[in-house]
Amino acid sequence: MKVLVVGGGGREHAIAWRFNKDENVSKVYAAPGNPGMKNVECIDITDFEELANFAKENDIGLTMVGPEVPLCEGIVDVFKAKGLKIFGPDKAAAQLEGSKSFCKDFMVKYDIPTAESATFTNEADALAYIEEKGAPIVVKADGLAAGKGVIVAETKEQALEGVKSCFEGSFGDAGYKVVIEEFLDGEEASIFAFLDGKSSATLASSQDHKRAYDGDLGPNTGGMGSYSPAPVVTDEVMEMVQKEVLDNVTRGLQEEGLYYRGIIFVGLMIKNGVPKVLEFNVRFGDPETQTVLMRLDSSLSEAMLATVEGRLDEVDFKWSEDPACCVVLASGGYPGKYAKGHTITGFDEAEENGAVVFHAGTSLVDGNIVNTGGRVLGVTARGKDIKEAVDKAYEAVSKIKWQDVMYRKDIAYRAIERLNK
Ligand code: AMP
Ligand code: GLY
Repeated sequence: MKVLVVGGGGREHAIAWRFNKDENVSKVYAAPGNPGMKNVECIDITDFEELANFAKENDIGLTMVGPEVPLCEGIVDVFKAKGLKIFGPDKAAAQLEGSKSFCKDFMVKYDIPTAESATFTNEADALAYIEEKGAPIVVKADGLAAGKGVIVAETKEQALEGVKSCFEGSFGDAGYKVVIEEFLDGEEASIFAFLDGKSSATLASSQDHKRAYDGDLGPNTGGMGSYSPAPVVTDEVMEMVQKEVLDNVTRGLQEEGLYYRGIIFVGLMIKNGVPKVLEFNVRFGDPETQTVLMRLDSSLSEAMLATVEGRLDEVDFKWSEDPACCVVLASGGYPGKYAKGHTITGFDEAEENGAVVFHAGTSLVDGNIVNTGGRVLGVTARGKDIKEAVDKAYEAVSKIKWQDVMYRKDIAYRAIERLNK
């Protein structure tokens, strides 16, 4: 079967890499893909109609969509209308990520454990609510804001500022509606599950590091590294998530008549072994995917196809016991301003010990790979325990050089601390 991956980041690179190891896959296309992808035909089409026609003409048996934006814009609706198999929710169901208030209403209606919240379209009412509740408190722009629309406010002033900046248009249309939410503390983890309309199947757990600097300090980013499994996700937590979250999501989608044949990313805050949902994403996480897929030992294409065809119950996922670690190399200054266009070296040396270098923000210029994005590479390795996976990833990282490269030195520190207990 030929497959098409929509997107060009580290997550999509990991998916294309996994497809290339899959005996059911004869050819991998990516739109637009990236210069690090090997044995992948990259195509430069963004228009959904055109892409669907390309998929039809080239006999593509399965399309998988990486990022949330095309899902929220309705790529699944266009492919489905042409009778093409595509992995993901349609536009209406993608609102679970595209609108925080839609997601909160859904969670409340279907008894999914989450933080208490209220939604406002009027600035004065939002400010009054914060005055009443006090801090810490969390302010969220309703729409997609590339991970930047969430303000975790430690003081009332920060929360008030956050609301004002939403209504002043800092997040564009995404911010004229805000969700204000109870602050939850605990440890975060992500659980991915495939949904086929009738049931769900969880994948291996993982955890990312959202803050820019060591010790989980500094500004929030798209994710500076990840590891899998996440020891905070015990069997009991997994069971609770299945029963209280995933079963209720499936029921809710059915009752609302929403079409969803894809992956759901459950962002959790876990305290004393009790999980609450922070958010749903309607796609794989980045960089969590890099570590989760490095541990998948069964066919990804078959699992996705079965999901689209509503026969998820036939899928037998096989996971390696070996943990995996991904260290993100970013451009110096990220998530703020950074310089682009520096030549990167050391790719082959980095992969000598079995690590894989996934590209996220690179371009090919005059035969050289240069940095063009904030998050540039995701260096990922597997080991017999988390310590070995981390050491292998950092050994590979040490071979890669470019001016002003920046990365965290402590990815997976919590998992290693647990190992030492
Ligand atoms: P979200 O996009 O909703 O997951 O929010 C982004 C990040 O903000 C999360 O990964 C958490 O680190 C943090 N966050 C979101 N909601 C809360 C909450 N209710 N309490 C504490 N932290 C939160
Ligand atoms: N790493 C978090 C995300 O993909 O949203």
